[in-house]
Amino acid sequence: MNRLKGKVALISGGARGQGAAEARLFVGEGAKVVVGDVLDDQAKALADEINKAAGTRVIAAIHLDVTRANDWRGAVETCEREFGGLDILVNNAGIARGGGVEDTTEEDWDAVININQKGVWLGMKAAIPAMRRRGGGSIVNISSIYGLIGSAGMAAYHSSKGAVRLLTKSAAVQYALEKIRVNSIHPGVILTPMTDVVPAGGLQPVIDMAPMKRAAQPEEVGWAVLFLASDEASFITGAELAVDGGYTAV
Ligand SMILES: NC(=O)c1ccc[n+]([C@@H]2O[C@H](COP(=O)([O-])OP(=O)(O)OC[C@H]3O[C@@H](n4cnc5c(N)ncnc54)[C@H](O)[C@@H]3O)[C@@H](O)[C@H]2O)c1
Repeated sequence: MNRLKGKVALISGGARGQGAAEARLFVGEGAKVVVGDVLDDQAKALADEINKAAGTRVIAAIHLDVTRANDWRGAVETCEREFGGLDILVNNAGIARGGGVEDTTEEDWDAVININQKGVWLGMKAAIPAMRRRGGGSIVNISSIYGLIGSAGMAAYHSSKGAVRLLTKSAAVQYALEKIRVNSIHPGVILTPMTDVVPAGGLQPVIDMAPMKRAAQPEEVGWAVLFLASDEASFITGAELAVDGGYTAV
């Protein structure tokens, strides 16, 4: 019940999918949470529902476009003003666009790189001074199995998620002595609105490539994020954790 007691967490892209699952799990383990998303109504509805169930204000929803440094400043300020500080950042916001090297448009390339890659950097840049004021913190960056291995059809997505993996390690090295841990998570196929839009039958071949031969629920990633966010992972930094039913073990 209290694995995150006394901690304040900021979750980007927390209005739905994995980010929303993490918000629920974090609150359940005693954290105060700020969810930031471009889906304002959904983020607010999630926060209202969780606060109502808790009977007290344990979560706030704010507008956060992860590509905007100003939005990040506002998000960190909200954590400090509403809940007294910032201990945990989950860089979860992301988009997926298909297309190989030749058929990816410049527009799609820029959108994916800006949100998935630049957004993670901007998030860390904004959060780290606040974590320093707390004497440490934990950052969990959501990459993908597609940040570990290649496939034929998602050039921009692979580029962005591969960059998140190494940005994570470089930040881990830079901030280790300041007690700010930085790790990446690499989900396989997770059942969220992101995968809901894949045309019927499109996911099955990918699912079948994993030894477990199934997709996962968002909470199955959420528990791994929670572990890395918590003090239970006190000696873990710069690590990459695949949550993929064995996909990348083959
Ligand atoms: N679902 C999967 O199979 C899968 C697999 C591997 C990795 N991932 C990664 O997991 C993370 C969460 O994805 P999900 O599966 O929950 O999908 P999702 O689409 O349900 O959630 C992504 C969230 O990010 C938000 N977002 C998009 N652009 C944003 C922006 N500019 N600023 C702020 N928020 C923004 C969306 O509004 C949404 O709420 C993403 O980084 C995704 O790339 C997903």
